[in-house]
Amino acid sequence: MEIVICKTKEEASKLAADMITAAVKKNPKTVLGLATGSTPVPMYTEMAKAVKAKKVSYKDVKTWNLDEYVGLPGTHDQSYRYFMNKNLFEKIDIKISNTHVLNGMAKDPVKECEKYEAQIKKAGGIDIQVLGIGSDGHIAFNEPGTSLKSRTGVVYLTPSTIKDNARLFFKGKEDEVPTRALSMGVGTICEAKKIILLAFGKNKADAVKGMVEGGISQFCTASALQEHNDAWIFCDEESASKLKLRNYYAWRSATKLGL
Ligand code: PGA
Repeated sequence: MEIVICKTKEEASKLAADMITAAVKKNPKTVLGLATGSTPVPMYTEMAKAVKAKKVSYKDVKTWNLDEYVGLPGTHDQSYRYFMNKNLFEKIDIKISNTHVLNGMAKDPVKECEKYEAQIKKAGGIDIQVLGIGSDGHIAFNEPGTSLKSRTGVVYLTPSTIKDNARLFFKGKEDEVPTRALSMGVGTICEAKKIILLAFGKNKADAVKGMVEGGISQFCTASALQEHNDAWIFCDEESASKLKLRNYYAWRSATKLGL
């Protein structure tokens, strides 16, 4: 794991976006795994700026998103499909037919998840997977107690995730947050060739500590990334504040990135 610690989330988001821009320039057919939530928004803004400045094109890029709520159609303003359209896809030159989000309204959710895995495999796997992290250490919607080998499937949200998501979305109404989702599994995520995880704010400090310096455990599914050999963790000072070796990580990553 490479831990990049920046002064602000804006600085970290720009570095992460630059990494994606460079990868897409090098391979215009890059396959991206994308995430929703409040965390990746500044990075998506930077990615869109690079497209506007004609530094990069997404016309041959394909994307698969991490998760979607069960019971919300893509037209619902709290669905993850809607979120992606508004926060990224409508701002870059990607073909919408090349973007994939699990269908939360699928009649047969298990089949929907199997189809999703097969599509990713057919595309040659995910080149770069973008992730946030939950305050309980989850990646995608893989809550504590999920197998670290899990595949895309139906998952059940913890009360703390429902609370977090209601605070940031759903106008604060906890009873409107769906309790189930379709989510890529931890095993699925870890197969991505490269991982870019973003974590900002003091609310994420315990999760970041667990992910980086705790043992590998189902109790913090992000800790599975310790076994990935190309995982980049972008933090601000608050989210990195509980790391024992934070000065060492900051020096090492800055040296590797040539900062
Ligand atoms: P957030 O969610 O970006 O809205 O904090 C992250 C997550 O739950 O993975």
